[in-house]
Amino acid sequence: MSTDPTPDFGSVDALEVPPASLEAEASALDADDPLKHHRAAFVGAETPLVYFDGNSLGRPPRATVDRLSRFVTDEWGGRLIRGWDEAWMQLPFTIGDRIGALALGAASGQTVIGDSTTVLLYKLLRAALDAQMTVDPQRVEIVVGRDDFPTDRYLVEGIAAERGARVVWVDVDTSRGVDAELLGAAVTDRTAVVLLSHVSYRSGYLADGAALTRIAHDAGALVLWDLCHSAGSVPVELDAWGADLAVGCTYKYLNGGPGSPAFAYVAERHQRALTQPVQGWMGAADVFSMGPVYRPADGMRRFLSGTPPVLAMIAMQDTLDLIEEAGIGAVRAKSVALTEFAVRVADGILSPLGVRLASPRDSAERGGHVTLSHPAMRAVTAHLWEGDVIPDYRDPHGLRIGLSPLSTSFAETLTGLRAVADAVRAEG
Ligand SMILES: Cc1ncc(COP(=O)(O)O)c(C=O)c1O
Repeated sequence: MSTDPTPDFGSVDALEVPPASLEAEASALDADDPLKHHRAAFVGAETPLVYFDGNSLGRPPRATVDRLSRFVTDEWGGRLIRGWDEAWMQLPFTIGDRIGALALGAASGQTVIGDSTTVLLYKLLRAALDAQMTVDPQRVEIVVGRDDFPTDRYLVEGIAAERGARVVWVDVDTSRGVDAELLGAAVTDRTAVVLLSHVSYRSGYLADGAALTRIAHDAGALVLWDLCHSAGSVPVELDAWGADLAVGCTYKYLNGGPGSPAFAYVAERHQRALTQPVQGWMGAADVFSMGPVYRPADGMRRFLSGTPPVLAMIAMQDTLDLIEEAGIGAVRAKSVALTEFAVRVADGILSPLGVRLASPRDSAERGGHVTLSHPAMRAVTAHLWEGDVIPDYRDPHGLRIGLSPLSTSFAETLTGLRAVADAVRAEG
């Protein structure tokens, strides 16, 4: 975990000359932004296109163009099959450890790059449920939010059906997420595992990781954190929370590219006791012994299954370099400044048009995106995409404004929100 001092963005009131307009405010914030030089590190940032979807697919870093090209010619083309022994077999662990250190508050040996988020969630959830049911056959419940990302809910239902477990749904306000009070009411001595989103995909609600982990543990349950919308944007402290398990995407704020593989975290104290269900040769104790029976490897290798997707995991290293340079504390400070500015602009120019904030108003409870609600938002999104302003749409009526701290500017944010106002007037 980075201990870099958090830079002070100040507030607009604190600037020497109070800006006369939102445009002046945006340019003052950009001028004061200690991370402003990072924007130029991304492909396309020099164009007038407004990108509000870095929370779905981050922009490519410029350095990645060269990294991928060099990989194809020098490593893949030059080293051929020797590349596996020389470097590639270790990449899931070295890149995983870097993500753990820079963004997750995880000591080494607990984070690995594996399959998709969906597949890793499946493997860890099944492993955790099986371990809990073995120790105490009464623990047959999986707790999950009713508004969690679809893949999370579908997996929980599938695993419950497979293992004879029961789903306990937590009903939430869709402009928030699962909080301490809701979780406290849902867990009992029958809870085996709790699956929680650190930042809600719909509202951007930021859960209190330490508090929710404690509540689950007090009930004797294990916690699996979905970190898709926090990794690389909101600091995570898995070791300090005492978290058990976590999985997260790398193609959002870690800019790993379309379909880049996810990371999995398993606290060191659990690794030996967990057996994941997709027993493949890459998770075996001795990969190349080609032995007659599967014996899981020690450590994080046992959570792998097949050949690591090397080409798909190398791009994310460029954003890890940028996060290392900036420090995750500075990334979060910029993220908070961006979402606060977006909320202020929305209050000023969108709420008079009937647009409602569907995210927490308090930045301490908000991750890196802001959701704006209006009945016309589906049509508004299509209208905006035609004009090169790219947010995304989530039912019901939600326009998600994703603000990537390393690549989004305050001026871009204002331009995009002014375009939203024009589109609401046209479509509303
Ligand atoms: C919160 C959350 N969980 C899980 C997923 C599923 O990830 P994948 O499609 O890579 O398996 C996503 C994808 O956007 C997500 O946002």
